[in-house]
Amino acid sequence: MRALVLERQRELSLRDIELPITPAAGEVKIKVHTVGICGSDVHYYTHGRIGPFVVDAPMVLGHEASGTVVEVGPGVGGLKVGDRVCMEPGIPDPNSRASKLGIYNVDPSVTFWATPPIHGCLTPYVVHPASFTYKLPDTVSFAEAAMVEPFAVGLQAASKARIAPGDLAVVIGAGPIGIMVALAALAGGCSRVIISDLQPQKLAVAGRYPGVATVDITRERLADVVARESDGWGADVVFEASGSPKAYQDIFALPRPGGRLVVVGMPVEPVDFDVVSAAAKEIRIETVFRYANVYDRAIAMIASSKVDLKPLISETFRFDESIAAFERAAEGRPGDVKLQIAMTEPA
Ligand SMILES: NC(=O)c1ccc[n+]([C@@H]2O[C@H](COP(=O)([O-])OP(=O)(O)OC[C@H]3O[C@@H](n4cnc5c(N)ncnc54)[C@H](O)[C@@H]3O)[C@@H](O)[C@H]2O)c1
Ligand SMILES: [Zn+2]
Repeated sequence: MRALVLERQRELSLRDIELPITPAAGEVKIKVHTVGICGSDVHYYTHGRIGPFVVDAPMVLGHEASGTVVEVGPGVGGLKVGDRVCMEPGIPDPNSRASKLGIYNVDPSVTFWATPPIHGCLTPYVVHPASFTYKLPDTVSFAEAAMVEPFAVGLQAASKARIAPGDLAVVIGAGPIGIMVALAALAGGCSRVIISDLQPQKLAVAGRYPGVATVDITRERLADVVARESDGWGADVVFEASGSPKAYQDIFALPRPGGRLVVVGMPVEPVDFDVVSAAAKEIRIETVFRYANVYDRAIAMIASSKVDLKPLISETFRFDESIAAFERAAEGRPGDVKLQIAMTEPA
């Protein structure tokens, strides 16, 4: 089957590659419609690795996908041919201790699309477990459904924060993940979100949403704005979504006493962590690794118009333009939030 293959660092090809084509028991075959390009796909392309995950054999990219069920394997209930769906890319061992605890995202044996050595979904058809394939309401487009994956990270962060109605949140970083976190925090009950970045174009996109105030850290200190906006008390929740080590300098000036820090960004190197500043405010610190049990909630929030992800789609490429799409993503244009690849013409 034709696929976008990362042969090795900095070398992509659109070529035939052997992939599963027949659904086994409990699986469905899906005609892929739309695939979003994620920062991790781009990082594998430009660096050939993310931490311990190294691309040492050709790998199909892509993990943010929607499509239509075209074949159903034995024993599948709840899905039928023709259903519009989106797919959760991480598959745990259902019998693992982590799965039994409901924290299947941290199952050590989880496999995840486009994380070496597992092939991703930038190919016309994929075979996937039915239990990680979610039916879409008619009101959710394929393009929006391909955004469920990054939005699920935002929802996981909002859940970990245990938001109380009316909370003031700070989000550090207005990349796709930071914006998803901000929207999830607002939909989850925050009254306001202050989001920071050093790229004005990113802040312009985030600032179009009601309830989101922006801080350009090249012009103002984030801590000063948070102090001003909270009468010196601090934010109830701080989400770190930039992955920048610099974000940790003075980060504990942002939350209020007894507030929370939710770590979403993944710095490539260990960061300095000021234990005493955190302890002096008894900050509760949470980490996020992808998501568990939030896909259906994410779809429901998009369907009910609690969140509108459509403004975040910067451009859509055709499958035969996939390599150009990755070149564009690797450029990191400041105005780009999410680039997508549409495998088929609009249905
Ligand atoms: N925990 C998870 O499961 C999970 C999932 C997906 C992504 N991530 C991580 O989340 C982070 C963000 O992902 P993304 O795709 O949005 O990345 P991105 O690089 O597109 O966005 C990061 C943004 O942060 C901004 N930034 C950099 N330094 C900053 C600073 N000091 N203060 C404020 N903003 C700053 C950048 O200008 C950029 O707009 C990455 O570290 C990524 O690895 C984590
Ligand atoms: Zn992703």
